[in-house]
Amino acid sequence: TTNRTFTMIKPDAVENGHIGGILEKITSAGFKIVAMKYTQLSTRDAQEFYAVHNERPFYGELVEFMSRGPIVAAILEKDNAVDDFRALIGATNPAEAAEGTIRKLFASNIAENAVHGSDSDENAAIEGAFHFSGREIY
Ligand code: CMP
Repeated sequence: TTNRTFTMIKPDAVENGHIGGILEKITSAGFKIVAMKYTQLSTRDAQEFYAVHNERPFYGELVEFMSRGPIVAAILEKDNAVDDFRALIGATNPAEAAEGTIRKLFASNIAENAVHGSDSDENAAIEGAFHFSGREIY
């Protein structure tokens, strides 16, 4: 059934000029963009978005990275959106990501890994609502 996932093109990929390349991979794979914005997370936004990771040793580094520059946030629609998008982006660590995946093509390292993808339907809804109001989804 058709459902939604949430993604961010992270600051490293924006800095490296990969917005266009990543959006091309996403739309070519059959995802429909139903919401999208160019924005920047504040420190507090990043702390809140990644609160689930706040006990991890990399939490501080993650918050600093994700708030250091602009991102592209988007809600994507497709059959089996969450799982298919995670397959398209590849493993968290780009060194382990499959050939042709977005992280293999565009990511620098395990911390600066170019894109976010929701890990469940429930989190996709929470993360989408963090960035978009109902009136911004088409
Ligand atoms: P993502 O899986 O989208 O969400 C959690 C993020 O934490 C992950 O992408 C990376 O950006 C970051 N992350 C995961 N593991 C590490 C690590 N070992 N060191 C630094 N950052 C990490």
